[in-house]
Amino acid sequence: VPVELALYQPDIAQNTGTLLRLGACLGIVVHVIHPTGFAFSKRELKRGGLDYLDLAELVEHDSYAHFDHWRRDSARRLVLLTTKSSDSAYAARYGDNDILMLGRESAGVPADVAASADLSVRIPMRPGLRSINVAVAAALILGEAMRQTDAFARLT
Ligand SMILES: C[S@@+](CC[C@H](N)C(=O)[O-])C[C@H]1O[C@@H](n2cnc3c(N)ncnc32)[C@H](O)[C@@H]1O
Repeated sequence: VPVELALYQPDIAQNTGTLLRLGACLGIVVHVIHPTGFAFSKRELKRGGLDYLDLAELVEHDSYAHFDHWRRDSARRLVLLTTKSSDSAYAARYGDNDILMLGRESAGVPADVAASADLSVRIPMRPGLRSINVAVAAALILGEAMRQTDAFARLT
């Protein structure tokens, strides 16, 4: 299975819509782990997702426990993007069956969720700065993972 994205309890509809649009364009499944911090409706998502929403492959999970159960059952490796890791996301090797998980805009992911990931990576940044926008962070590493797994070859 090609690399997929997972959004942990996202708070900002426009970012989720932007990532659904990216998923639609690149043929990447996007998992949304509920609860979201906004009303999860087409109307809310449309500002970022425009008319791409209907073309996105969206999988919703009621809770993190449900998502984690499903991904272990289907033998997916969970790669967490977090500012708290000391391992560079550009030193990692990505493979098919990886799911790249992004934290929520306000608070990232709780410690127990972080501990359940198979790998945690960080996009290097200048010292003293807090974080990159979630959709931009996702795009940076999704691009790297797709490059490594030759996933762009199936697109035109
Ligand atoms: C706005 S940031 C969250 C910041 C949050 N206050 C925290 O402490 O984690 C939203 C998400 O974008 C991703 N992100 C942002 N900058 C990142 C970086 N430099 N490296 C890896 N992931 C990053 C992470 O998944 C993060 O949970």
